[in-house]
Amino acid sequence: KEWWHGKVAYQIYPKSFCDSNGDGIGDLEGIRSKLDVLKSLGVDIIWLSPMFKSPFADEGYDISDNYSVDPHFGTLEDMDALIADAKARDMSIILDLVVNHCSDEHEWFKKACEDPEGPYGKFFYIFPHKRGTPMPTNWRSFFGGSVWDELPGRDDYVYLHVFHKKQPDLNWENPQLRLEIYKMINWWLDRGIAGFRLDAIINIKKAIPFESYPADREDGTCSVSTMLSHANGVLQLLGEMKQTAFAPHKAFTIAELVGNREEDLPLFIGDDGCFSTIFDFAPSNVNRTREGWYNQKNVTLDQYKEACFASQCKAESVGFMANIIENHDQPRGVTHYLPEGEHSPAAKKMLGGLSFMLRGLPFLYQGQELGMENTVFPSLDVINDCGAQAQYDAAIAAGLTPDEALAAISPMCRDNARTPYQWNSQTNAGFTTGKPWLPVNPNYTEINYAAEIEDPNSVWYFYQRLASLRHSEEWGDTVVYGKTEPWLEDEHGIMAYFRRGSRTLLVLANLEKTSRDLILPSVPCSVLMCNDTPIELSGQNIHLFGYQFIVLVM
Ligand code: GLC
Ligand code: CA
Repeated sequence: KEWWHGKVAYQIYPKSFCDSNGDGIGDLEGIRSKLDVLKSLGVDIIWLSPMFKSPFADEGYDISDNYSVDPHFGTLEDMDALIADAKARDMSIILDLVVNHCSDEHEWFKKACEDPEGPYGKFFYIFPHKRGTPMPTNWRSFFGGSVWDELPGRDDYVYLHVFHKKQPDLNWENPQLRLEIYKMINWWLDRGIAGFRLDAIINIKKAIPFESYPADREDGTCSVSTMLSHANGVLQLLGEMKQTAFAPHKAFTIAELVGNREEDLPLFIGDDGCFSTIFDFAPSNVNRTREGWYNQKNVTLDQYKEACFASQCKAESVGFMANIIENHDQPRGVTHYLPEGEHSPAAKKMLGGLSFMLRGLPFLYQGQELGMENTVFPSLDVINDCGAQAQYDAAIAAGLTPDEALAAISPMCRDNARTPYQWNSQTNAGFTTGKPWLPVNPNYTEINYAAEIEDPNSVWYFYQRLASLRHSEEWGDTVVYGKTEPWLEDEHGIMAYFRRGSRTLLVLANLEKTSRDLILPSVPCSVLMCNDTPIELSGQNIHLFGYQFIVLVM
């Protein structure tokens, strides 16, 4: 048993959470001023998306100095104050560890550009190249276009970037680089943070030697993920990182792990695994296509159920995964998983409850507890997400008209999750007194914290109840450690599972808007939680309203 097993975790996207000084950008002081709100919700662990110095080409995931706080967010002193204030409330802060790449404005990369054959050149993947000749490989970056670009200011070298061209990949084959990274990790852990969320961590190991792979698009390129799937040896690197940096501090680590091999799961999250836990992206990955966002089909709640159960089954005997319905890279979960037009508070609570009650660490994303939804994009120009243009271009290339292309990519755009937090119904949703860096979702007049805190039936209070169940003496042990056992697994429109621990709970939801009658496997003792209309128990029979969610004590 680990200290974090029974906790509730929460992701903050600092740019969009709370602006304390009216410059339109959220900041550390803003976060600090809301710690009590998060505490009252039941949050124990807070993950901050990057707040380090950055040119913001990929919104902070392009770090130019890992040892400082970006002035937009505050200072190192503010960070220390935030860590201390969180500690005083028995909350832990974890930071984003972005070490697959840095910013092209990082001093390492600047030195590498000056002297590509020198020691800092070896911190990156830099190769001699003659302008006009083919690039070393045909890999397409995650944000579109080639992974290769000329070193800024030169025509005789190219460098690798699997994401944006302002995010050069770090060369993890180089022991010198690794030592620098471990030093930085230790520096932050010594400052009192509890651990890290590890960004795109599987990408640190490349398939060497570099070679082209069969094209998966007509332009002759192949996704860089194909190369990554051929890489071997990431576990050695991760093991070293754990031994050198995380283990001595007993740090909590949660990895963004995409495309790992299933049989490796124990090596990642087993007893001696290299991480504490990983996000379960199985539900988020349903219906993803090679072609990109424009071709994404709606995800049904039956598919959501299937993906969750498959993951529960995989993790069961191995370790704990972290359950999410959204994050800063995903659409808002309620828009993504609930059928169109079915975004009632009851349905939102149902989805939240189903995710939260699974075995694993519930990891909320800011605004999820309000039921925040995807936003609307009147034109491509208002989109900030650096990956959107390439997705739009792919849609146009596939023959869509500009209007169709915008409509097709909008549901998956990362800005959906990045609009400012909706604090109240006043100007700019109370997020800032200035001009918000990203437009506020127009629905803030209805969906906002101030309104929900006045309404005992709000989505916010429902999440608070879920959190307190997890923390409770009586039920916590079952909610945290109980075995998940699907019930009526093949039944269309029903998602139900037992949590069997010292007590037995049945988590039950009607995934459709029409009511349903079911016969329970035995007579339940009581209703522990319910999302909406109160339930009347009558023996083994149960009548579920549309989108009803209940937790029964069996
Ligand atoms: C991760 C982050 C994403 C970022 C990418 C590159 O996937 O979550 O926001 O763009 O890594 O750092
Ligand atoms: Ca600010």
